[in-house]
Amino acid sequence: MTVHFNNAGAGLMPAAVTQAMTGYLAEEAQGGAYETEQRHADTLERGVYEQLARVLDAPVDDIALFDSATRAWTSVVSHLPFAAGDRIWITPYEYAGNLILWSELRRRLDLRIEVVPVLPDGDPDLDWMSANIGDDVAFVSVPQVPSGCGIVLPVEEIGRILAPWRCFYGVDACQSVGQLPVSAASIGCDLLTAAGRKYLRGPRGTGFAAIGPGPRARVTLPFHDLHIADVVADHAYEVRTESARRFEYAERANPGVMGLDAAARHHLARTDGGPGPLRDAVREAVEAVPGTRLIDPGTRHAALVTFTHDRVPPRQIRDGLHGRGVNVWVAQGSHTPLYMRTVGVDHAVRVSPHYYNSPADVAAFAGALRDVLR
Ligand SMILES: Cc1ncc(COP(=O)(O)O)c(C=O)c1O
Repeated sequence: MTVHFNNAGAGLMPAAVTQAMTGYLAEEAQGGAYETEQRHADTLERGVYEQLARVLDAPVDDIALFDSATRAWTSVVSHLPFAAGDRIWITPYEYAGNLILWSELRRRLDLRIEVVPVLPDGDPDLDWMSANIGDDVAFVSVPQVPSGCGIVLPVEEIGRILAPWRCFYGVDACQSVGQLPVSAASIGCDLLTAAGRKYLRGPRGTGFAAIGPGPRARVTLPFHDLHIADVVADHAYEVRTESARRFEYAERANPGVMGLDAAARHHLARTDGGPGPLRDAVREAVEAVPGTRLIDPGTRHAALVTFTHDRVPPRQIRDGLHGRGVNVWVAQGSHTPLYMRTVGVDHAVRVSPHYYNSPADVAAFAGALRDVLR
């Protein structure tokens, strides 16, 4: 049996997810895709939104579906009404895809992108944020957990600092949904985005967002698709909803949506305590091997352990572990470039267990790692 410690890449889909997808696909093949869609309209048009609203602790009208977390993020952030000179706050843990969009918006709109300083332990400096926030800050972007290391950012505390101010607050919850409690309501954010395939254990090609009424009212979308808009005269159309579904396109891969619905249900039925204890065991197993260096900023940590070795490159470690039945992945420094540059890391081994892994899996990982780094 493979030990899957690459949940930060994509979690293993539970049987309920693969059954929902393959069952739906078979129905499409046998009975027609439009007819199948009609039969499952209750899940596709209502149920999946309700499940995700519960997963994110957000109103159902805030939920929109996309084909990736990046699409969810860019579909909203690109259309916000920024003005020249607006300050945008990011942290050193910003995801590279989001950084590319910020570079583009900065160039086009003359925004000022500012990186929130961090304390010596790597946590963002909340006192600096409290002292420097003002109404010229238009957007604050924070990943709850970044791609390249396991720090958990204090998104609720940041939300409390930002609450009185005019800025929009966006939280990238791609690596946290499914492994940590995530509540858009407690965070107090205007936008929260995530992918289905990671710790939620949904299918690839699914992403979703909670888009609050603030950004929904302020964006000017260049297009509205036919699931929510009608042409009512030669040069006029009407949009039928104020909900976040205005950000979606009408056509989508319905087997994936069914899988995402099943993953959300599966997640909501969980009673385990999450992967936290396994994270500590993985960390100890890495530290026990001579020559390893953990990349471990922050005071709170998610189940995502990254490290390098002084002799063996990350790809060789990944491949060596894979050959011994353990899946880990290589975190590219360029995906979390601001932070990874400060610690001088191009690539690192990323080990990301989940609640379904066991202490025996950690023991297998530890043995394989010792073997690879002998
Ligand atoms: C923190 C973070 N944000 C955003 C993304 C982008 O997600 P997607 O590949 O679904 O666009 C990732 C992907 O790994 C990520 O780790």
